[in-house]
Amino acid sequence: METKKLFCKSKKDIKTAAAILKDGGIVAIPTETVYGLAANAFNEDAIKKVFTAKGRPQDNPLIVHISKLKQIKQIASEFPKTAQKCAKKFWPGPLTIILPKSPDLNTTVTAGLDSVAIRMPSDKTARKIISKSYPLAAPSANISGSPSPTSAQHVIDDLSGKIDAVVVGKECKVGLESTVVSLIGEHPTLLRPGGITVSMLKKVLPDLVIDPAVENELKQDSQVLSPGLKYKHYSPKTQVILVEGSTNDFIEFVNLKVGESVAALCFSEEQPNIKIPAISYGSELDDAKKAKELFVKLRELDSLGVQTVFAHAPQKTGIGLAVYNRLIRAAAFKVIKL
Ligand code: TXA
Ligand code: MG
Repeated sequence: METKKLFCKSKKDIKTAAAILKDGGIVAIPTETVYGLAANAFNEDAIKKVFTAKGRPQDNPLIVHISKLKQIKQIASEFPKTAQKCAKKFWPGPLTIILPKSPDLNTTVTAGLDSVAIRMPSDKTARKIISKSYPLAAPSANISGSPSPTSAQHVIDDLSGKIDAVVVGKECKVGLESTVVSLIGEHPTLLRPGGITVSMLKKVLPDLVIDPAVENELKQDSQVLSPGLKYKHYSPKTQVILVEGSTNDFIEFVNLKVGESVAALCFSEEQPNIKIPAISYGSELDDAKKAKELFVKLRELDSLGVQTVFAHAPQKTGIGLAVYNRLIRAAAFKVIKL
């Protein structure tokens, strides 16, 4: 199929995107986190097309995106006080909340789970398209396993010919997928870190616990709260190895590799002193910038044509935890501690 290119500034194009979705088609839409591959959340056939286009494992559930709070009752069977507080503080925005699923929602969206992930994006184009169509189930609009798309061009590179349309939007301000928090179970649990940080969440959810899979590799047979945590993720074709240590130690370490088929993904301050090919993903002190640049730079790495990239790990505080979480998965949990 030919993938139509639509533009967020054109009212006609927004209408076209909504019409394709109403017809059971699939459309990549911009959000403030990453581009999502959207389908009507209540149309099982459309949802199946999303799984097929991405090559997504059938047991990995999708997030349902809403534009108004009243849509929640179509999707979740409960909207507890804790969820209402989170919604009031962080929606519209980069927070996904897991709640018990409504019996009316098909199980293809939730991959057979009794729970459902819900988010109200802050991106105006995304909300306009939802308002003109339906609540939209939308995973990130990349081929499963590759870095998430933060531009329409990334979507086209991965999915051209496999989806009905892509809406070219404004920049993805956050650049990493939303924070996912489960409000099912004894304690609120952080399943995926993102733009809404642990300290922001703790103001509303003081008893928040962090799922061990956020920072660590899951042991085989351990119980998985979020199926997405199981899979290899965000990987460029080049092998990535995460390196933890100070700036001086990192520079010394990579400079010993001169002449090998390697490159560095480093902080901007380090780049002038690195003697192998190096791509910077932002200042050591600016975690928000690194979050925004990470997926762009992971895609760029493949153009260097080297075998291995040594990526300097960020601090695990604030949004740095989200950057660390994506990088350690891109590195398939291979870490060197200097
Ligand atoms: O920012 C985002 O969240 C983007 C944009 C498009 O909104 N979407 C996104 O979707 O990142 P996706 O499918 O790439 O990631 C959704 C994550 C997966 O790790 C999935 O396993 C988890 O959310 N998830 C979805 N439903 C769940 C549920 N009922 N219980 C636990 N985890 C769930
Ligand atoms: Mg994804």
